[in-house]
Amino acid sequence: MTSSVSAIVLAAGKGTRMNSPLPKVLHMAAGRPLLEYVLDCCREIKARTVVVVGHRADAVRAALAGAGDLSFVAQEPQLGTGHAAQIALETVPVVAEESVLVLAGDVPLLRAQTLVDLCALREKTGAAAALVSFRTSAPGSYGRIVRDASGRVSRIVEARDATAEERAIDEVNASVYVFDGQRLRETIQRLRSDNAQGEFYLTDVIGLLVSAGDRVDSLAIEDPLEAAGVNTMAELATVERELYARRATAWIRSGVFVERPDTVLIGPDVRIDRDARLRAFTILDGQTTVDAGASIGPFCRIEDSRIGARATILDSCLVRNSTIGEGASVGPFAHIRPDSRVGENAKVGNFVELKKTSLGRGSKAPHLSYLGDATIGEGANIGAGTITCNYDGVVKSPTTIDDGAFVGSNSILVAPVRVGRGAYVAAGSVITKEVPDDALGVGRARQENKPGWAIRRRQKR
Ligand code: UD1
Ligand code: CA
Repeated sequence: MTSSVSAIVLAAGKGTRMNSPLPKVLHMAAGRPLLEYVLDCCREIKARTVVVVGHRADAVRAALAGAGDLSFVAQEPQLGTGHAAQIALETVPVVAEESVLVLAGDVPLLRAQTLVDLCALREKTGAAAALVSFRTSAPGSYGRIVRDASGRVSRIVEARDATAEERAIDEVNASVYVFDGQRLRETIQRLRSDNAQGEFYLTDVIGLLVSAGDRVDSLAIEDPLEAAGVNTMAELATVERELYARRATAWIRSGVFVERPDTVLIGPDVRIDRDARLRAFTILDGQTTVDAGASIGPFCRIEDSRIGARATILDSCLVRNSTIGEGASVGPFAHIRPDSRVGENAKVGNFVELKKTSLGRGSKAPHLSYLGDATIGEGANIGAGTITCNYDGVVKSPTTIDDGAFVGSNSILVAPVRVGRGAYVAAGSVITKEVPDDALGVGRARQENKPGWAIRRRQKR
């Protein structure tokens, strides 16, 4: 951008139509608060940015604490978008020939390139203002762009103040503007609140400029979604879907295979290596990293976890705050709870739950187990139905299963307990004390057979 740019982002409104106590701009969309998307655009074009906060201002400020170099200004009470811009302008330094962008905080699909184009348009024509408009078959509550006989913008009329004829106009205001800073300062003082909502409308600045003989240009954008404002939960859902779609597309471009991308949700802080495979209906959240050649899904959710190279997470697994080693296999239907580590080439099979458990390299827990607070060495085999009793109702205790141990099916390991290196646990045992290295632990009643018992039983009938 050639000249200096300031941006004012309006985020003081309550968002009444969301029917939610949370301020509208803090609603999460595809893993981030709505407002951050617009702020990203401002950052991308290197605009000095002022955020107008009002309704639950402290919450909004706190949510943006990590969002970089921003300043905030409070609007109290909230008397409309024009009033919000006016207050913000008081803190924007006066710079000759400066462009001042004013953006609503609730248009998360806006692209930085549109702001660049908008500023370039105004600089080229020398207009006092340029605004973004789009055509829609459902103009609803958007402000309508009223044009004069020669087709130039003459004013914006809010839906609630529009005549039936004006309401039929299908070109609407995106709430994305750039102004000549000086002309905006002069004109905004003249706003009045004699309208249906009793508010000071920023949109009225456009009509005032035109009546004063100023030129106002418009930039029509093709994709109405880009300018979609979020006012209701339904609109939030629509916009979120598009945000996820954009993100999936970006990963596909970088070389990740994504099956049915419309069903795969990738969070903003996820990192994925090339040639990883994400199968349908899979969700990657939080600080998740997927290494090269790993395959996840279908129907999995991975949160704050690292999935190692060539690891496979099969159908319907939930993995949270854990590490899955290279070449390991997890699932189908496994639950890997926080602070677990599945070692290289290890295997966690169906209906297995791990909690705060480390399963060493090449070890296997193939079926139906609960392993909690356990440290399992390398090359161990955990039979079907093995349970660590890690909780006695008061404290949690650890279980240690050393390298090469073999735990027979349906064993119960009452913690704290240790199964030694290379030791065996007989199937169906309840193990309450240490099984030494290379020993066999048997902890069950001995089987007794009663010869001929069945015959006698049948004769009684
Ligand atoms: C606004 C525009 C409308 C446009 C639409 C696009 C006005 C009067 N109308 O309507 O022409 O088509 O956006 O989405 O500008 N805000 C404040 N302080 C206030 C009021 C609002 O900071 O006193 C903020 C809100 O937090 C929000 C933004 O301004 O981020 C827009 O307000 P909103 O109430 O959503 O305006 P719309 O009715 O959608
Ligand atoms: Ca809006």
